[in-house]
Amino acid sequence: MSLFSKFDEIRAGIESLVKNGRNPFDVRFERVLSPTEALLGGRLILLLGTNNYLGLTLDAACVEASMRALHEAGTGTTGSRIANGTYADHALLERRIGEFYGRRSAIIFTTGYQANLGLISTLAGRDDYLLIDADSHASIYDASKLSTAEVMRFRHNDPDDLAHRLRRLQGRPGNRIIVTEGIYSMLGDTAPLREIAAVKREMGAWLIVDEAHSLGILGSKGRGLCEAAGVEHEVDFVVGTFSKSLGAIGGFATSDLPEFDILRVVCRPYMFTASLPPAVIASVIAALGRLSTDKSLATRVLSNCRRLYSGLAQAGFDLGPEPNPIVAIKMPDRETATQFWSRLLDEGIYVNLALPPATPASLSLIRSSISSAHTEVQIDRAVSIMTAVGHELGVLGARPSKTAMALR
Ligand SMILES: Cc1ncc(COP(=O)(O)O)c(C=O)c1O
Repeated sequence: MSLFSKFDEIRAGIESLVKNGRNPFDVRFERVLSPTEALLGGRLILLLGTNNYLGLTLDAACVEASMRALHEAGTGTTGSRIANGTYADHALLERRIGEFYGRRSAIIFTTGYQANLGLISTLAGRDDYLLIDADSHASIYDASKLSTAEVMRFRHNDPDDLAHRLRRLQGRPGNRIIVTEGIYSMLGDTAPLREIAAVKREMGAWLIVDEAHSLGILGSKGRGLCEAAGVEHEVDFVVGTFSKSLGAIGGFATSDLPEFDILRVVCRPYMFTASLPPAVIASVIAALGRLSTDKSLATRVLSNCRRLYSGLAQAGFDLGPEPNPIVAIKMPDRETATQFWSRLLDEGIYVNLALPPATPASLSLIRSSISSAHTEVQIDRAVSIMTAVGHELGVLGARPSKTAMALR
C-alpha cells in the first residue's frame, strides 16, 4: 500500500472538481495589483475572496513602516522568543494590542492559527472541559485535538444547547472553557454573544472569543463583536489574527487575567516556532493606527457588505443570515458550486469555493469576502455577473429566496 493511498479519495474528489483545467484550490495569480485586482492568465480579475477587509495590504503607511523595519532589522528573527529573545517591536505590538483592547496583556503569535492552537490547547488541560461551537474554525478543532481536556461540541450558535451540556457537568471538578467566534468564517453569521456570556456567567465558565473576522469591522472602536454586543467584560480571552483586516500575518491573544503571561513558558505553539519578523510587526502597528484613526474604513466595508448582500438577495440567491464581510451563496450541490465558481472566473471574478467537509451543515458555498477598497461599481458588477451565472446554471429559480423575502 502506498504511503499516500489514504488520500486517494481526496485526490479523486479534487480531480472531479478540476473544470477547464482549473483547480479551485490551486489558483495562481501572476501579480496582485491592488487589494481588489490581480492578473490571472493575463486577465484582470476582480478579487472578491481575499479577507483583505480594510484593503490595507498596500496601504502607503503600512508599506512604508514595513520597509523601514526591513532595512533596520532585516528579513526575519530566525528563532523563537524564548530562545532568540524578544525584539523591541514584539513588545511594542503586544502593548499596542493590549491598549487597543483595553486589557492588561497581550501575547502575539506567528499566525492566527497558532494563536488559537496555543491558547486553547494550553488552557484546556487534563480534567478540564472544552466546549466549542460545532462550526468552529479548523484552528479551534486542531487546538481541541492537542488539548488534554474533554472536548464537547455544542450546536452552532445555540446557547441553550451549551447550557444543557454545561449543566450535565455539574458536580464534576475542572474548568469549563467555552470557545466561540465573533463572525463565522463560512456563512458570515455572528455569535449570540450576550446569551453565551449569560450562560458562561451562570455556569461559572471561562469564555474565549475568536474575533478573526470581526476585528476592525464591528464595534465603535473596531474591537469586534464583543465590543458591539457590549460583553467585553464577560470575555476572558480575545483571540485574533493580523492576516485579515490588518493585512499582514500573525495572531494574538489578549486578557485581563494577571496570570496570563505564564503562557509564554508553557504554550508550545508560542515557544517552539520562530517569532514574527519586525517588518511584519511594523506593518501591523501601522495598520492598527489606520484602523483606529480612519473610521471610514469600517464604514465603507460595511456599506459594501450591505450592497453586495442586498443585491444578491434581491436577485433571489439563498445567502448566509447576515450582511457581514463574508457573504456566502448556498449552492444546490458541489458540482453546481464548482461550475459557478469556474464561470465567475471566466467572467473575471475571483471568489472562494467552499465545500464539505470544510463547511457547516455539508453546504456547498460560493464565499465572497468584501473590502473597504471595493468600489460600488465593482460590487454592482459582481452582483450582475453572479446573477447572470445564477440564471445560466439554474441556481436562480422563478421564486424569490427566503432571504429576499425577509429583506422586503
Ligand atoms: C475564525 C478563524 N480563526 C483563525 C484563523 C487563522 O488565522 P490565520 O490565517 O491568520 O492563521 C482563521 C483563518 O481563516 C479563521 O477564520
